[in-house]
Amino acid sequence: MASVTVRTLAAKKRAGEPIVALTAYDAATAMLEQKAGVDLILVGDSMNMAVLGEETTLTVDLEVMLAHTRAVSRGAPRTLVVGDMPFGSYEESDAQAVGNAVRFLAEGAAHAVKLEGGNRMALSRAGAIVEAGIPVMGHLGLLPQSLRLTGGYRVVRADGLQRLQAEAAALEDAGVFSIVLESVQEDVAAQVTAGCTVPTIGIGAGRGVDGQILVVNDMLGLTPGFSPRFLKRYADLAPVIEEAVRRYAGEVREGVFPGDEHVYGAKEEN
Ligand code: KIV
Repeated sequence: MASVTVRTLAAKKRAGEPIVALTAYDAATAMLEQKAGVDLILVGDSMNMAVLGEETTLTVDLEVMLAHTRAVSRGAPRTLVVGDMPFGSYEESDAQAVGNAVRFLAEGAAHAVKLEGGNRMALSRAGAIVEAGIPVMGHLGLLPQSLRLTGGYRVVRADGLQRLQAEAAALEDAGVFSIVLESVQEDVAAQVTAGCTVPTIGIGAGRGVDGQILVVNDMLGLTPGFSPRFLKRYADLAPVIEEAVRRYAGEVREGVFPGDEHVYGAKEEN
């Protein structure tokens, strides 16, 4: 059982306490995030780009998402773990959506699922999954899974406010416990948040939301070519890793590694 639950997030919103969310894709990173006090870990389909090197989120496989969700759940058993339903895993019918959401909890050991959009299809899927007893996180604003329809990644500005407000209200009616707002002009996201009873979690949505989320590989500096305005790098790991690998390669080539302390001699027990 997670120590952080959907009720914890609701309480944080009521108390005006910011919610800290971050993505993770493996057990080791999830464990560190739990130790550092993250409230919610999203096993995002951003994994397809951040970890698997793909151009978009569209090609990620459900089985792969489930395996990584399981790893994250193992690493962070006391954190609220949300599995991101990948493109193709919920569009066909409510029954398909419920079946795959069940897999995220039963096989991935997640505590909740996330799905993108606020149109009729998304609302129906969210409602059906909630009815099955599974907490759902909504996702509005920039929708990476709709990339082929929208033709690009764009910030949602003032002309999108009414639509966002209507979609957020409809998602609330469908029973979601939280809504991600991605790439939304700050005052627009703040107005949507003000009208929401469930917490909003922003990525590129400014300061007027109830919590923040970043893609962990981005904030750790593992995606050096990616630097949108909203991203703050809290570490610069790419050169650290490159230098460590360079030293290792050099020492292997020079015969410096393994040294005496790294080899099993006849006398040592371990
Ligand atoms: O896939 C993901 O990491 C996400 C976040 C950007 C919210 O959806």
